[in-house]
Amino acid sequence: MTAGNAVTARRLTGNIGAEISGIDLGEAISETEAATLRDCLARHQVIFFRDQHLDLRQQKTLTAVFGPALQLPYVKPMDAEPEIIRVYKGADEKGGVFGGDWHSDFSFLEVPPSGSVLNAHTLPPYGGDTLWASQIAAWDALPDALRDLLLGRDAIHVGKPYGVKWAPPLKEQSGAGIKMSRGDPAADEETKHPAVLQNPVTGRRMLYLNPTYVTRIDGMSEAESRPLLDQIQRHVTRPEFCIRYSWAPGTIAVWDNLATQHYAVNDYQGHERLMYRTTFSGPSPRDMAAVPVKTAQAAAE
Ligand code: SIN
Repeated sequence: MTAGNAVTARRLTGNIGAEISGIDLGEAISETEAATLRDCLARHQVIFFRDQHLDLRQQKTLTAVFGPALQLPYVKPMDAEPEIIRVYKGADEKGGVFGGDWHSDFSFLEVPPSGSVLNAHTLPPYGGDTLWASQIAAWDALPDALRDLLLGRDAIHVGKPYGVKWAPPLKEQSGAGIKMSRGDPAADEETKHPAVLQNPVTGRRMLYLNPTYVTRIDGMSEAESRPLLDQIQRHVTRPEFCIRYSWAPGTIAVWDNLATQHYAVNDYQGHERLMYRTTFSGPSPRDMAAVPVKTAQAAAE
């Protein structure tokens, strides 16, 4: 499909992901190209650019195409680059990996990142893939009973891995390659976001849930919520709603952080992997809450 100008988007699966070609992101990006890239992201939820080899300045320029760059708490950014996280795992590091479970970046913040940019620098000889799941496709296929339960309701998000109550066991924590604040009681504070969002441009609805940060559905206890959240998560991560992407050095991924969850695969022990990550802001989930629409029958009553 030609997306506009020379920029071309090739879909990679039925529900999520496209590879973009016809643009050199190291050169100035015109307003027309920028609008096309934003449109591609809204349609495909995660977009990939091969053979770009961007330096950090060029990565920041690309990030600004999608929204103002964000500085995030709890994860130490690069010295002199407060907007960039060096996502590194060394060959000698054991244990977990940054982002190694299904999540949406920092969803426990009042205004979480709208999207993220990941720039592949050094890769293991095999493995180190990333998966994304479409919360749009998952919403579209969600059984009516679950839709009715979630629409118009909030979910409770907390910064679990950085807090006290839900902090992961030591052996599952990422190693020394990436510095995180742990054990901060403030991270256990609850933030409410609508469980179902609606993209103001495409009109499409999406779940906004993830197991790393969501503890319960508003109005329900953790114990009551758990089986429902687990059932929904199994549904969201069905293979037909997911893409698994194999990186090459110089590949860039940009994803919609509200419409997707992602998962970094930790299967390259003994090898190093280095990526640079930026995030950008946009509307808050509250501003994107999906409003229940009255059916014609309900309106007539
Ligand atoms: C992340 O969660 O942003 C990291 C993803 C990855 O390293 O593949």
